[in-house]
Formats: sequence, structure tokens, C-alpha cells
Amino acid sequence: MSPKEERYQRVYENIISLIGDVNDPITRMATIAAVLHHKIKQYSWSGFYLLKGDDLLLGPFQGEAACVKLPKDKGVCWTSINQQKVINVPDVNEFPGYITCHSETKSELVIPVMDFDNKIFGVMDMDSRTANGFDETDEKELTKIATIVFAQLK
Ligand code: SME
Repeated sequence: MSPKEERYQRVYENIISLIGDVNDPITRMATIAAVLHHKIKQYSWSGFYLLKGDDLLLGPFQGEAACVKLPKDKGVCWTSINQQKVINVPDVNEFPGYITCHSETKSELVIPVMDFDNKIFGVMDMDSRTANGFDETDEKELTKIATIVFAQLK
């Protein structure tokens, strides 16, 4: 395991231990956002957007206040929802229709979150102050962390 994977493993275990036997997805998302934000300093913002009918609304997050509702079918989060796949944006200036919530964000990684019935529930959104902020290890490890929201842990 690389040092980076080991660090993610510690973060994963920290989140699992904090969550304990609580199944509530809001509690889990709040814990994930806080641990990622405080343990992995290169991320400027970490949080969730939740699909509510036709709207994608701000969920639990850590970092500066962000856009509360994302214009439909625009930007990285909606693309991830619509394609139901991970979207890694190495340079936000190159992403057509990118929605700027914070001018300091240079790269972004968005991961779909599926519910207990494997239906799309929302996305986990990570922002970085540097371009190329997320590599394949980040994609793999953050995808694993995003599955905690609805994982059957006990
Ligand atoms: N940039 C995102 C919007 C959310 S913020 O980055 C917190 C997008 O294009 O969907």
C-alpha cells in the first residue's frame, strides 16, 4: 500500500469509527465531509449535493458557503448525476458549463452517491486549490469513502 493509500485507509477507519451504529445518511455525510476536510488539507472544500426531485441542493459540507442549488444539467455535479459516473476535472477552466462557487477552486472531483436501492441519491464533491488535484488513487479511495453513506455496516 502506498503512503497515500495508507492515509486514506486511516481516514476511512476514522469515519467508520465515528459513525458507529448510526445509519442516518445526513449524519454520515456530515462526518465524511468533516473528516476529509480536516485530515486532508489539500482539499479546499468537501461536501455533498443531494438530488431532490429535479433540483440538486447543497447538503452537508465543510469549507466556505457554496451555491445552494445547481442549475439543472449544467456543471460537474449534474454531469456526474446524469452519467452516474465519477467526473475528475483537472482544470475547471476547461470544463464546459463549469459552475464557479469559489474562485480558488482549480480542480474538482465529483462522485455519484447511490442509495440502498442503488438509485442515484446525490454526489460527493471535492475541490482543490491546485490544478490536477486528484489522481486515480484519489478517485478510487474517495469512491470507497462515498459508499459509506449507504453502506450496511452492522
Ligand atoms: N463546481 C460545481 C458546483 C459545486 S461547487 O464546486 C461547491 C459544478 O460545476 O457542479
